[in-house]
Amino acid sequence: MNFWQTFEGPIFALAPMEDVTDTVFREIVLSISSPKYLNVVFAEFTSVDGLCHPVGKDKVSHRLYISPTERKWLEKNKAKIVAQIWGSDPEKFHQATKIITQEYDFDGIDINMGCPVRKIVNQIACSELIKFPNLAKEIIIATKEATHLPVSVKTRTGIKTHNTEQWIANLLEAKPTAITLHARTQKMMSAYPAEWQQVKIAAELRNQIAAETPIIGNGDVISIDDALQKISQTGADGVMVGRGIFKNPFMFNYPQEEYTKEVRLKLLLRHLDLFLETWGDEKSYQIMKKFFKIYTSEFAGASDLRAKLMQTTNRNEVALLVSEHLDEQ
Ligand SMILES: Cc1cc2nc3c(=O)[nH]c(=O)nc-3n(C[C@H](O)[C@H](O)[C@H](O)COP(=O)(O)O)c2cc1C
Repeated sequence: MNFWQTFEGPIFALAPMEDVTDTVFREIVLSISSPKYLNVVFAEFTSVDGLCHPVGKDKVSHRLYISPTERKWLEKNKAKIVAQIWGSDPEKFHQATKIITQEYDFDGIDINMGCPVRKIVNQIACSELIKFPNLAKEIIIATKEATHLPVSVKTRTGIKTHNTEQWIANLLEAKPTAITLHARTQKMMSAYPAEWQQVKIAAELRNQIAAETPIIGNGDVISIDDALQKISQTGADGVMVGRGIFKNPFMFNYPQEEYTKEVRLKLLLRHLDLFLETWGDEKSYQIMKKFFKIYTSEFAGASDLRAKLMQTTNRNEVALLVSEHLDEQ
């Protein structure tokens, strides 16, 4: 039995998001979530070409870093962590998977067959693999052969139009341990509402041909209640949350509580401290700015404070603004 089959209730996952779901943000989210409502977290996607390259490996390894403190939260919450890889050459998938299995401490490997970004699909990778079903299967098989870890796939419903039934049937032939279906086509990017009817189509197909393979739906989930409704309407085994976490970092804490501005702003500072402690100069301070928005909403004066935070250049300026804001209100 692989870990995807061990959860008692529906599966709740935090999506892989580049420059967002590093070890620091994952730890922050794990630390404020109910263990029952956050079961799996994903690392940012990592290029198999990069990982297999002697110099490139150093450049991409931050994507696979799991800090000791994140590990503690994973254990405390009994949550699993999955590395996600992308590329186009099955041999490189095989090699990269061996590296991840031997040198890192992940519970699973996920293959990105969903990213729609032009410069990536031009390399016949990610969502472009939907056009190359045999290559997609070869990649899954090559990855599975390199590891004892469960190998899952995250994908979309088609290229220009939904082709869910045929595409998911093709993937299931290679027996991935789970499939996350982002309910949009490549063409839809993330600009149109997700079409959860497609998740239902995938779940029904799975019931017929691969009952043991969880189907995780993805797209526009905004709360646990929303997730539970989508699960019951589609027959999916769980949901993956992406941008919803930007609107509500406490989303996986269920039932929801009152989150005061003190709680939000202290969390912002904790996140910033952990970011600086973990990455030092390795990552730019600018990356933190996209998170300021997450913590500055739902209280009076939030947007003014946010605008000021965006002008900051270091931790001291942030701490000063936060304490001024807390004192004056
Ligand atoms: C900033 C950002 C970075 C992303 N990076 C990845 C990634 O590395 N791998 C991946 O499979 N999807 C990535 N995605 C897509 C999300 O995982 C998710 O599929 C998508 O946002 C749809 O879910 P949502 O509607 O809940 O946001 C990214 C999305 C965003 C917004």
